[in-house]
Amino acid sequence: MDTLGVVATALWAMLPAYVPNNAAVLAGGGRPIDGGRTMGDSRLLGDGKTWRGTATGTLAGTLAALVLDALSPAASGLVGHSLPGFPLTAGFGLALGAMLGDIGASFIKRRSGRERGAAFPGLDQLDFVVGALACAFVVAPAWFGATFTLPVLVVVVVATPILHVATNGIAYRLGLKNEPW
Ligand code: CTP
Ligand code: MG
Repeated sequence: MDTLGVVATALWAMLPAYVPNNAAVLAGGGRPIDGGRTMGDSRLLGDGKTWRGTATGTLAGTLAALVLDALSPAASGLVGHSLPGFPLTAGFGLALGAMLGDIGASFIKRRSGRERGAAFPGLDQLDFVVGALACAFVVAPAWFGATFTLPVLVVVVVATPILHVATNGIAYRLGLKNEPW
């Protein structure tokens, strides 16, 4: 596969994992998942992880995969490369995994004494990638193996932090997010 094909495949395959966090920012609020519970001196997860944000994010990512499937023939023609399709399990796994990775990161942040919204460079940019890939691997192993070849994985790990910083910067400037990370 040529470089353009690898990059296009990586970004396309990860789109259902990129959508959930952004949807959660827009839809978040309401009851926190941890119900206000604490562990030691800190909240278990904090007020930034809500049921509504998590459910909306997962749904939005799953729907994104369905939309991508519909656009796939046209997009494949444009980049001159056959882009991956999404079995329902794969789209759902990527979306739910992205949310779970982000939730896991909040758990780690609270344990390390960081308040809600505090930055944790590296973790903030890759938590949802690790969650999405792990979850997709569990629920759709054959699809995962065929889609995420080593070169594709390398592009995902390098390109995602760049995209994450850019989109969160935009969300911050638009007043949608409280912090630019
Ligand atoms: N959000 C949510 N549910 C989630 C993830 C995010 O409701 N599972 C919403 C919250 O309103 C949150 C916002 O999206 O404040 C931004 O998400 P994020 O940056 O992940 O949360 P923070 O508020 O920064 O909290 P943390 O320090 O725990 O990451
Ligand atoms: Mg944050």
